Amino acid sequence: MTDTVPPPTAAEPLQVTKVFLPPFEEYCELLRQIWATHIVTNDGPLYQRFEDDLRRYTELANLVCLANGTLALQMALHVLELAGSDVITTPFTHVATSDALIWERCRPVYIDVDPETLNIDPNLIEAALTDRTSSVFGVHVYGNPCDVTEIERIAGANDLKVIYDAAHAFGTRVHDRSVLSFGDISAVSFHGTKGMHTFEGGGLFAGDPELIKRARRLAYHGMDEQKRIVQQWGTNGKMCELHAAMGILSLKYFAAHLEEKKRCYELYVSLLEGLDQIRFQKLTGEINYSYMPVVFRSEDCKQAVMKELRQHGIYPREYFHPSLETVFSDRIACPIAYDLSHRVLCLPMSDYLQQEQVRRICEIVVRTCETQRGG
Ligand SMILES: Cc1ncc(COP(=O)(O)O)c(C=O)c1O
Repeated sequence: MTDTVPPPTAAEPLQVTKVFLPPFEEYCELLRQIWATHIVTNDGPLYQRFEDDLRRYTELANLVCLANGTLALQMALHVLELAGSDVITTPFTHVATSDALIWERCRPVYIDVDPETLNIDPNLIEAALTDRTSSVFGVHVYGNPCDVTEIERIAGANDLKVIYDAAHAFGTRVHDRSVLSFGDISAVSFHGTKGMHTFEGGGLFAGDPELIKRARRLAYHGMDEQKRIVQQWGTNGKMCELHAAMGILSLKYFAAHLEEKKRCYELYVSLLEGLDQIRFQKLTGEINYSYMPVVFRSEDCKQAVMKELRQHGIYPREYFHPSLETVFSDRIACPIAYDLSHRVLCLPMSDYLQQEQVRRICEIVVRTCETQRGG
């Protein structure tokens, strides 16, 4: 990878991901600006620069950066005024997707996922509609775009809003544009473990500038644009200058490291695709290569691989588990998501991952799968 990324030491454990940190001096340079101005938050110059950088990178005009991705999801639901309604969503996601719904007093109505793309299955939406349904809330799982065209068609025909949890999907493109340009509103996470981060942080992107204006107001205690008059109740959802400074640098290196992560992803696929115990997520767009999920044929095989990798200091992650319909509803109605949640494993992927490490991981996976086959 580039010379900004020091090689790992042999003894270093290999986690599912490693938070990217830019060269320390570059961060200090931005800190110096904070020390010079004494502006630490409240739409400061670094915050504004970060938003401008994001506009340029995504080619999207309407966005707001917030304190974290979960809050961004909550605000997305809030500005669309969905409280009290039923929202069709996926159980195969991080708990934050359902948390946001519950905080905003929406009822999650889980439908199953497509076994190939791992995203919400649009073919199941219409059967789940009732007169309480307001919207569809999809997740671009591991940065892989939902079937945005079909979801849009169904939403249009049934007068539904569309919200995307794009926590994993910053940088993903589909149909020649940013995935964040689809639906009524998309929420990203800039958590440290994400491909592009601000330590903690999140953001909203919407076609309608009014939605972003409302979210900005909510995140600023309900104040008007001049920050003088309280127009409504709100909260403190702002992103501060320290976080924005990290965002500026993380975005710079995110773009520079994308090709190398893609090469690692493709190397994983080429070394594992011959195994009949493993399959990959079917990709539906140009993803950001921030995750390396594999679906095992059986849970036993996944467990055996996980155990073996751990013995070699490699720590993949069972992500997502459990399937959320088992937590927030009283019946298991999503057999595909339930089954996937027992068989998916995310292998290490990060800006620091090196091709020799991918080869080492794959050797262990192949060897263990062959033993599992009884060979
Ligand atoms: C799919 C998904 N949605 C939402 C979130 C929440 O984001 P944050 O940690 O920034 O609150 C996460 C975090 O990992 C996530 O994976």
